[in-house]
Amino acid sequence: MVEVEQLKMIDKQVMQWLDRVRRTLPSMIEDMDTQTKANRFDLVTNVDKAIEQSFEQMLTMHFPNHQLYGEEAHHNTEKLREGFTWVIDPIDGTANLVKQQDDFCLILALFHNGQPVLSYIDDFSRQKRFQAIKGQGVYLNDVPLSPPSERPLKESLISFNNKVLNDETMHDLLEVSFGYRLIGACGLDSAKVFTGQFGAHIHTNAKPWDIGAQFLFAEMLGLKMTNFHQEPIDFIHGGPFIISNAGCYDETLKILLQKGGYQKL
Ligand code: IPD
Ligand code: CA
Ligand code: CA
Repeated sequence: MVEVEQLKMIDKQVMQWLDRVRRTLPSMIEDMDTQTKANRFDLVTNVDKAIEQSFEQMLTMHFPNHQLYGEEAHHNTEKLREGFTWVIDPIDGTANLVKQQDDFCLILALFHNGQPVLSYIDDFSRQKRFQAIKGQGVYLNDVPLSPPSERPLKESLISFNNKVLNDETMHDLLEVSFGYRLIGACGLDSAKVFTGQFGAHIHTNAKPWDIGAQFLFAEMLGLKMTNFHQEPIDFIHGGPFIISNAGCYDETLKILLQKGGYQKL
């Protein structure tokens, strides 16, 4: 068990580091250099890499015994359930960063013996920072964030990557829900569920860093976060993921699964 006072001390350092990232980001974006990874849609920039490196340096300086599990360079999974482990997606929504210079964020989470204890999603362009401290509270720009009220699917906007759902399932979800929106950054689509703006966000193949922060936000805001069979998700492996308002969770999953639902990427 980690004491809240210890978490608050770690949080203070992380908040200062996030402030520094925000200040330097505009000049980093000016010098942005983009490369492709697995295919032409899979992009990475020097900004993604520099932010992860900078976080590693901050850890080395202040918390040398903390482990790092990150999208760009830190893939060793051997001992991640022991002690303190950070999971980072330095830029979530890299395609949005490259194509729009908008709608991208940083996703960051601290686990202690496999349990989430600190979480952050920083929506850089809108200057919105979501922060969760286990045993203390959830905040949006330092203002406490309350759990969203429960809402049924017919009153909810939902978000999912349409490329990986079959046509019939997509049609059924559109028919029953209030409507569809997709930002295209898993962290920002999920944050819309934190605030009650979206009923649910679905990702059929989430990587651990796409969803690292969402565990603690879901726990502290009374949201559902599971795979499509209502089972817990392992923070080291990720996989099919839904984060949902409790009022539309069952119905969304029922529709998602009833006609063979989704194809794995
Ligand atoms: C991507 C975004 C996007 C999701 C992709 C992710 P990245 O993250 O979260 O919304 O659909 O599957 O890979 O690659 O920009 O960090
Ligand atoms: Ca991501
Ligand atoms: Ca990324």
